[in-house]
Amino acid sequence: MALIIPKPAVPDEYLVDNRVYTDRLTFERERERIFFKVWNFVCHESELPEPGDFITTSVAGQPIIVARNRSGRIHAFYNTCRHRAAQVVLERSGNKRNFTCLYHLWVYDLDGNLVGAPEIDAYKTSYCPAGLDRNNTGLVPVRAESMHRLVFVCLDDETPSLADYLGDIAARLEHPFSSPDLQVEVKWTKTLNANWKMQPENSRDGYHAALLHSRLRGVSKPRPFKLFPGGHALQQLSLDYDEGKKLGTLDGILLERPELAEKFMAHPLPGQSRDDPSSIITLFPDTLVATRYSTLVIERQIPVSPEETVFETRHVFMKNDTPELKELRDQHWTLYWAENSGNLPEDWDAWLAQQRGVQSVGVRYSLLARGEPATEGLRGDDNRIRDFWRQWRVCMGTISNAPPQ
Ligand code: FES
Ligand SMILES: [Fe+2]
Repeated sequence: MALIIPKPAVPDEYLVDNRVYTDRLTFERERERIFFKVWNFVCHESELPEPGDFITTSVAGQPIIVARNRSGRIHAFYNTCRHRAAQVVLERSGNKRNFTCLYHLWVYDLDGNLVGAPEIDAYKTSYCPAGLDRNNTGLVPVRAESMHRLVFVCLDDETPSLADYLGDIAARLEHPFSSPDLQVEVKWTKTLNANWKMQPENSRDGYHAALLHSRLRGVSKPRPFKLFPGGHALQQLSLDYDEGKKLGTLDGILLERPELAEKFMAHPLPGQSRDDPSSIITLFPDTLVATRYSTLVIERQIPVSPEETVFETRHVFMKNDTPELKELRDQHWTLYWAENSGNLPEDWDAWLAQQRGVQSVGVRYSLLARGEPATEGLRGDDNRIRDFWRQWRVCMGTISNAPPQ
């Protein structure tokens, strides 16, 4: 007998058809219609301080090189050789004078031009007497732009500029990222068997914090959020630090360790305010920046398949930090975002449970029905998650949070 599952009696946009977390066609369309077209955060300029510095990454399933050239400009290219399409740069990061493909040793300069190929005269033939066309054999460029030293890549030539893409939320990224003394580093990457959308939902889900994370229970009060056009959002997390201390309503970690909290608060990152010491900025589709006054995390995701995502996590220092201060920032960072402690492993357990649960044919929908629609409010509602899905529908060209037909 066929299973009859009543649909919850709420508007369609308050539901997610759980097949979007497992469906192969949905995943492929997300690559084409979201990740291929948006500005994807890839690194901070401080990760590429010198000419020849590079990182390699994946955007919308495409292998990408991001590199600083001789004149100091940051460029991006498809990391694919023009000879027979081998991946040219294999390392995750480093410094090179030029990029040499391992297979037949074609050499590209830092601007992507082909500058050497062994036995190049072999391409001079009766039908092509001039030989290899150097104007059409370089690494294929990809758009790269920076905002407050945060570097983004876009694979679509028709997408408006990065400034247009970020809009007003760009101002919230100015501090501390524009500081020339900030040093951003990749801390770790981790592969999880979870769909990529579980992280952006989680980072826009304010109420899970005091439910899933036991040490935040009773000490993490609702704080304002604000939605920005384009699916971006800002969530304030803490009260004014001094007032919160008196009221005992700061987050649990700072209350547990007041001596550490005082040390952290003595070393703010540039532009961080004691009145507003922590916040979460979520950029559509996949990037999260969470500030904690003396430290912060940037989380980026690399979707691999519908049920596999690589999570890439960065932390920051100031270039003039003493070893002690560097350790202090690291200690603060570790309290929240360590791979084996803090809040993150609890979030991962939740996503893994969710990924297993969404396989069920007995439960078709996830529910996003908390609260009245609002662009500003407190964190107990589902508005930020619904706004993520609104932008998802705009990009995907669909009218419901469901696999494309
Ligand atoms: S594939 Fe790169 S040189 Fe041949
Ligand atoms: Fe969490």
